[in-house]
Amino acid sequence: MPRPTYPPIAPPFPATRPRRNRADAWSRRMVAEHRLDPSDLIWPVFVVDGEDRHDAIASMPGIERLSIDRLIGAATEAHDLGIPAIALFPVTPAGLKTPGGQEATNPDNLICRAVRAVKRALPEIGVICDVALDPYTLHGHDGVVIDGEIANDVSLEILAEQARVQAEAGCDVVAPSDMMDGRIGRVRRTLDEAGYPQTRILAYAAKYASGFYGPFRDAVGSLGSLGKKGKETYQMDPANGDEALREVALDLAEGADMVMVKPGMPYLDVVRRVKEAFAVPTFAYQVSGEFAMIEAAAAQGWLDGERCMLESLIGFKRAGCDGILTYAARDVARKLRGG
Ligand code: PBG
Repeated sequence: MPRPTYPPIAPPFPATRPRRNRADAWSRRMVAEHRLDPSDLIWPVFVVDGEDRHDAIASMPGIERLSIDRLIGAATEAHDLGIPAIALFPVTPAGLKTPGGQEATNPDNLICRAVRAVKRALPEIGVICDVALDPYTLHGHDGVVIDGEIANDVSLEILAEQARVQAEAGCDVVAPSDMMDGRIGRVRRTLDEAGYPQTRILAYAAKYASGFYGPFRDAVGSLGSLGKKGKETYQMDPANGDEALREVALDLAEGADMVMVKPGMPYLDVVRRVKEAFAVPTFAYQVSGEFAMIEAAAAQGWLDGERCMLESLIGFKRAGCDGILTYAARDVARKLRGG
């Protein structure tokens, strides 16, 4: 959208008094440029094996790992609140992790069972699945390791098969978060050949090697596996902005339907540049560490958690996001609905 150039034509003070429009609540509402709605929110949920489980996650206050039966109830509430989609992340039992991450391609793995159950109970909600091997590998990397390297092209084969079993289970959107080169094209080709031309791809196009993923790795149990090793050989350097545009261009050329920037708050300049350069559906992920920062400060009484969460999310919209993945989605939607 073209914006007026500055300075705009306006007479100086005292004819112009910007405070006039801010003087009353109705007036502030009337001139508000952005609004947060439950339809802007995508809710990431951790899924765990078993029944009637809702395990707390120490580093993510208020967030629980849910067993599939509990997930159905949570998804139903999210849908009733107007949240369009949930993003599922599996907590893989330690015994199923291998160096090659084979469980990722098991059509009956936890995530596929969760997808089937949700789509059976609630076909109207969008279900998004992560495509990456880190919940399944003993080393906690997103691809397979050969001779100490994350082997790009070998990983593509497994990731594409992982996406295929997710689509087969009924997943609406596959979201490759692995940052291997060429993965979007490889996944698109596999889905098309397997008869899933309608399965969408949300590319984690600009995903940075971030310290803010710590609590997530704790939640899915990949932290212990990964240890002090980093993902810098495949995730992006936080110093780079132009490179994000190249990554997005590649993913779109390979068939991505939507793109994502991740993490969110430290990278809102990237969101803005991506949206302006490509004008495609653009999402950002308010990641676990961003959530934990707000919640931890709120728990100490240092921040008004609810207010800071809403302020952070409207910042994503102002930056140009079409939607935001946030662990606070359900709570925020309840609040927006007046609950
Ligand atoms: C795994 C994946 C990660 C997140 C989403 N998918 C962690 C990582 O890359 O190590 C992070 C989400 C969060 O921190 O909330 N591929």
